[in-house]
Order: sequence, then structure tokens, then C-alpha cells
Amino acid sequence: MAATAEISPELRARIAALSDEGWAIWERFDVDVRQDHWHPFVPADYERVLEALVAHRGTGLRFLEWGSATGVITIMAELLGFDAYGVELDPALV
Ligand SMILES: C[S@@+](CC[C@H](N)C(=O)[O-])C[C@H]1O[C@@H](n2cnc3c(N)ncnc32)[C@H](O)[C@@H]1O
Repeated sequence: MAATAEISPELRARIAALSDEGWAIWERFDVDVRQDHWHPFVPADYERVLEALVAHRGTGLRFLEWGSATGVITIMAELLGFDAYGVELDPALV
């Protein structure tokens, strides 16, 4: 059984909307920025990250995303109950 079956349909829908918004931002960024200049921002597979976060969540846990870009994963972790923080080098992405 997928770990995401443990979360409510409402939370699943909220995270799906967050992920969709993240991919839409990435697609614009890819055209507007990465087409002309190299940039390290390439998103993770959000669905796989979600599975890992759900499997590791628990009371009183903190999550740090080093290189958080648009913050999708940090926000996802916060929605799942982690005390979540993201650090990003490029202020244009934050
Ligand atoms: C491969 S991207 C991953 C972004 C994000 N974790 C995701 O999956 O959507 C790596 C990010 O790390 C940032 N980065 C690189 N070096 C960094 C540093 N020393 N401190 C903070 N962020 C850094 C880059 O600007 C880039 O946005």
C-alpha cells in the first residue's frame, strides 16, 4: 500500500494543488531563465518526495530542505506536520 493512502483526501488534494502550482512555476522558469542560462533549479519528483515524507513523519520532527527553490517540498513537509524550513541561495526563487 502506498504511504500516501495514510493521509486524508483533503490533504492529498491540497498537496496535489501545491505540486501542480510548483510544476507550473518550474515550466515558466525553464522557458524564461534556463533556456538562456544554466541554473541548478530542477525540481525533484514531488510524488516520490511525498511518499518519503509520509513514511517518516512523526510528532515533534523538524525538516530542513537545503536548496528549497520555490519551497514546494518545504511547504509539503509543513502540511504533513513537520516543523519545516527551507534554505535557498537564489532569492528570485524564494
Ligand atoms: C536541484 S534544485 C532542487 C530544488 C528543490 N529542492 C526541488 O526539488 O524543487 C537545487 C536548489 O539548490 C539551490 N542551492 C544550490 N546551492 C545552494 C546553497 N549553497 N545554499 C542554498 N541553496 C542552494 C539552487 O539554487 C537550487 O534552487
